[in-house]
Amino acid sequence: MRRKGRKQKEVRTFPNVFHGKLEIISESLQKYFNNNHPVVLELGCGNGEYTLALAQKYPDKNFIGVDVKGSRIWTGAKKALSQSITNAAFIITYIDRLFLVFKNPVVEEIWIPFPNPFPLRRSIKQRLVHKRFIDVYRKICLPQAKIHLKTDDEILYNYALKVIEEENLKLLDATDDLYNSDLYKDELTIQTKYELQHINDGKKIKYVCFTFN
Ligand SMILES: C[S@@+](CC[C@H](N)C(=O)[O-])C[C@H]1O[C@@H](n2cnc3c(N)ncnc32)[C@H](O)[C@@H]1O
Repeated sequence: MRRKGRKQKEVRTFPNVFHGKLEIISESLQKYFNNNHPVVLELGCGNGEYTLALAQKYPDKNFIGVDVKGSRIWTGAKKALSQSITNAAFIITYIDRLFLVFKNPVVEEIWIPFPNPFPLRRSIKQRLVHKRFIDVYRKICLPQAKIHLKTDDEILYNYALKVIEEENLKLLDATDDLYNSDLYKDELTIQTKYELQHINDGKKIKYVCFTFN
């Protein structure tokens, strides 16, 4: 518990971590990256494993991991600093507030690997593909932006497909068994701790990719 508290405090001193007044973060990010490269987000990034793997694969893009838990971001941010991964940064905030950071639609791609499934009816609104999040993504994304969701959870997978239909979004790819699909290549082979755990538990990994119409 004390360690978590220390990380929460320390992470706020890292030069690649942004927090606090959301309205000024975009300017700080601009200064930090010091280029106009495309912006890619990982939402609910936890330890930032996807953010860092993508950043190393694509040095000409800027990757930003977003999570409300600073103690988790600490791990990814620390690793980025120690490995000199300069095209990755992190924001500590609730995802539904991101429209305050990106006042213009600049995001080229969003990755949502293994979000909390929130299976209960009363917590549907917390699912990162709920309409209230889609409305935020619409505001901050470029028109052709791709949103990628990876999950082991069947309820969340089916829910995402339902929202895509209801919200008139454009489904680009979907599989309920990624590892036995032609889609299993490139960035989709990046595995987080959660993904490995689900595979060890014998679960099938599901994947959905959509864009705006
Ligand atoms: C199950 S973890 C997955 C972490 C990571 N994507 C991975 O695959 O290793 C989900 C993360 O999403 C974060 N999260 C959930 N809802 C959020 C929200 N509304 N705003 C910010 N972070 C959120 C949690 O704090 C948690 O760290």
